[in-house]
Amino acid sequence: MGKRLKIGVLVSGSGTNLQSIIDRCQDGSLPAVISCVISNNEKAYALERARRHGITAICLKHTDFNGRTAYDAELVKVLQSHGIELVVLAGFMRIITPGFIEAFPNAIMNIHPALLPAFPGLHAQRQALEYGVKVTGCTVHFVDAGTDTGPIIMQATVSVEENDSEDTLSARIQMEEHRIFPEAIRLFAEGRLKVDGRKVMYLK
Ligand code: GRF
Repeated sequence: MGKRLKIGVLVSGSGTNLQSIIDRCQDGSLPAVISCVISNNEKAYALERARRHGITAICLKHTDFNGRTAYDAELVKVLQSHGIELVVLAGFMRIITPGFIEAFPNAIMNIHPALLPAFPGLHAQRQALEYGVKVTGCTVHFVDAGTDTGPIIMQATVSVEENDSEDTLSARIQMEEHRIFPEAIRLFAEGRLKVDGRKVMYLK
C-alpha cells in the first residue's frame, strides 16, 4: 500500500462517524491510518470503538486542565507526538482555541449536521425543524476561529418530512455524514483539496 495519511480523531460521544472512518480505512478505500483517538469524555463510546480496533484511545478530561488554552496545548502536544497530519473533529463537543488552529493550518476538519451557513452551533437539527426548512443536511468544513464558519469542503442534502422528530431527522442526516466525511478525508489524503480564501477546490 502507498503512503497513508496519519489522522487523529477527536470525539466526545457515540462515535458513529469515527466508525465510518475506521471502516473505510480498513476496506482500503481511504488511504489513511487513525493514529490516535482522543476524547474529553471518558464515557464516550467512541473510545471503546477505537480500542476494539486496536487504535490508541486517549482520554484527556478538560476538567483536569486550567482553562481552554492549557487543555488545547496538551491536545496539540499529543497529536504532534503521534505525527498527525490531519485532525478530524467527529462529534467533539468543545470549541477549540486559536493556538490549536494555528498548529494545524487548514488541517482540521469538522462535520456539522446542517447545511452551513444555516444553523451553526448546537442542536442544528432542532434548529432546522423549528425554522421549518424543507431541506437540510450536513457539511464537512475546515475549522477556523469561528463556530462552524470555516471553508466548506463537502455538503449533502436531506429532505425534511412533515412527521420528522429530531431523532428521525438526525438519523437520516447521519447516514449522509457517514458517506461524505470519509469522502472529504480521502480527497485531503490524496492531496486534492486546495483552499483559496473561503473556497475549497477539488484538484483532478
Ligand atoms: C454528528 O451528528 C455530527 O454532525 C456532530 O456530532 C455528531 C456526532 O455523532 N458534530 P457521532 O459521535 O459520530 O455518532
